[in-house]
Amino acid sequence: KTKVIKIKDKTRPEDGELLEAAEILRSGGLVAFPTETVYGLGANALDEAAAKKIYAAKGRPSDNPLIAHISSMEELPALVREIPEAGRKLAEKYWPGPLTMIFPKKDVVPYGTTGGLDTVAVRMPSDPVANRLIKLAGIPVAAPSANTSGRPSPTRAEHVIEDMDGKIEMILDGGQVGIGVESTIVDVSGPVPTLLRPGAVTLEMLRETLGQVEVDPAILGPVKGDVKPKAPGMKYRHYAPKADMVLVEGAMEDVVDYINREAAKAMGAGKRVGIICTRESRDLYPQGLLEVIGSRSQEETVAHNLFAVLRDFDDRQVDCIFSESFSEDQLGQAIMNRLCKAAGYHIVKCGGPSEE
Ligand code: TXA
Ligand code: MG
Repeated sequence: KTKVIKIKDKTRPEDGELLEAAEILRSGGLVAFPTETVYGLGANALDEAAAKKIYAAKGRPSDNPLIAHISSMEELPALVREIPEAGRKLAEKYWPGPLTMIFPKKDVVPYGTTGGLDTVAVRMPSDPVANRLIKLAGIPVAAPSANTSGRPSPTRAEHVIEDMDGKIEMILDGGQVGIGVESTIVDVSGPVPTLLRPGAVTLEMLRETLGQVEVDPAILGPVKGDVKPKAPGMKYRHYAPKADMVLVEGAMEDVVDYINREAAKAMGAGKRVGIICTRESRDLYPQGLLEVIGSRSQEETVAHNLFAVLRDFDDRQVDCIFSESFSEDQLGQAIMNRLCKAAGYHIVKCGGPSEE
């Protein structure tokens, strides 16, 4: 039976609320906890057997490496062979926070944690519950997102309970997370820093700090044939709702027309249709089940609600989902990366001269 502990004030957790969780982690068990990005499923990153339990609970392929979470800068040198200049600069600017960096690993980090790689992903979360829990545990905490592999990442404790109840020792309930999409991942182990997964620390912010930053092609489109994404996790069809999802791009008017037309057709064929819209467009869809993902004028709200909206449509048992799309700059790059993957890269461009 999974024990759920509700944190009274998630901005100032008391050690008494976290000590049992820390002890479970130290002794090789699994604890799910909130971070500022999404909920994580934690285990001792230095204990290969504990890491194996994570893969089992998630149903995750074991070649997909885990992120080791630390609570302060002094904990980094124990895990990594060197801290390149780019890593130092980004740590100074964005840690603690929603940024993960890839370093050459030391031998103490088992291959069971890194999926067989000689590098290790490290993140220092700013969430007070996560940060204090890691400190109290006194070990680096390996933590993927706390969802069943392939399901949308959890942004509320209820999502974690849905996926993990009965499979892990404990869930710390810290309410709803702030950011809502997973951390930015940057590989600083090579000659040029490379963005492997977009997140709240945007490409624009990285370039401002580092100058040159490359972008792994896997971020921009489906992984084809022999091109391997550098973050192994990016090759899986992640974040997927149960329904077929179509992401619709184009001028707003054309997008709304297209969705209304296709929704009517699908409903005529007896399907339950979901539509992902925004606060600005909600009144433009006369039929279908609507979920408002956020406001276009505040993209943080879109990131914040994204995974919950996909899960809500699972609960509402829709057969197909039509989603509006977003511009790909700043935080939009992370939003579109997750939406594209949720849709299995099923993207329709409408309007303009080349309409199908
Ligand atoms: O925001 C986050 O990062 C959340 C919270 C819990 O911290 N964690 C998270 O973990 O998203 P996960 O396991 O769902 O995603 C980790 C990603 C995967 O795509 C994995 O392939 C990549 O990081 N990764 C881990 N270690 C790596 C390495 N050594 N080299 C390249 N990619 C790595
Ligand atoms: Mg994940």
